[in-house]
Amino acid sequence: MRHDYEVSCASPSLAVAAELLAVDAVSLCDSDYSPAELAQLWANDALRVYVARCGRQLVGFCACLLTEWPWGRQLEVDALGVVPEHRRRGLAKRLVAKAIRKARGAGALWARAVVREDNAPSKAVFRALGFASGDVRDMLAYECRQRDGTLAPGLAHMGWERIEAKHSGNGWAEVQVVQTMAYRGLWIEGLELPPTSEGLGVALVAAILQHAVECGVDEVGWLAPHRGHPLRGCARAAGFSAHGRYRYWLADLA
Ligand SMILES: CC(C)(COP(=O)(O)OP(=O)(O)OC[C@H]1O[C@@H](n2cnc3c(N)ncnc32)[C@H](O)[C@@H]1OP(=O)(O)O)[C@@H](O)C(=O)NCCC(=O)NCCS
Repeated sequence: MRHDYEVSCASPSLAVAAELLAVDAVSLCDSDYSPAELAQLWANDALRVYVARCGRQLVGFCACLLTEWPWGRQLEVDALGVVPEHRRRGLAKRLVAKAIRKARGAGALWARAVVREDNAPSKAVFRALGFASGDVRDMLAYECRQRDGTLAPGLAHMGWERIEAKHSGNGWAEVQVVQTMAYRGLWIEGLELPPTSEGLGVALVAAILQHAVECGVDEVGWLAPHRGHPLRGCARAAGFSAHGRYRYWLADLA
């Protein structure tokens, strides 16, 4: 059967939030928010949502963030889902391509996605759009607040920041505070730590977690690089747990 699809940028509303959550429930299964909460955070924050419709039915979405880095703006392709009956018809590719066109128009220099290593369909989408993959990493996450389907009260701020710690030397972490359609998070992006300073690692992890609590996030996520990284042991000792193997996928939009 032939289908006509329309891909567009969606404006925040309670009705579309409910449709998005229905598609999420049969694709990513990631968001515990109610339609009202999703509509609220979508209206206030930097979330951009692209949708695919078959007639009136919403059959796919791509939720993105524009993040600000010291070197410029970046598109984060954060959530992508197509209902099973409409898969393998190019919808995910069209949704991400639309998000990229809009982000480029808004001055984004890079696009990024984080994809689980065993997710062949998702990897195929980003590969087909010219994204290049980074090395395989372990997703480590720390839960600051039990996710119970409610929106955490008031975010102190969002965006990029550098957190420093001192203990027989200096170390720092670059972090982003974000609101996605599934959680409020603090993403650990970059780290600089002398290889032999365990005390400094412990101090840095403690400073990151303190910042996360002050910012009111649900969880802290880190794509931890290689097994010998000096902060891995400190993160695990502080309560971070492992959630599988992922890669960054990056595209240069400049
Ligand atoms: C990942 C997902 C969004 C892909 O949606 P889709 O609309 O079927 O993807 P497309 O039709 O645009 O396919 C794009 C490319 O992926 C390939 N592809 C799609 N499904 C595939 C599969 N199951 N196995 C291998 N390749 C696949 C297509 O052949 C196409 O490649 P091509 O351009 O070289 O022909 C969909 O499978 C989904 O919702 N999965 C569950 C949620 C999920 O994993 N989301 C991504 C999290 S990062």
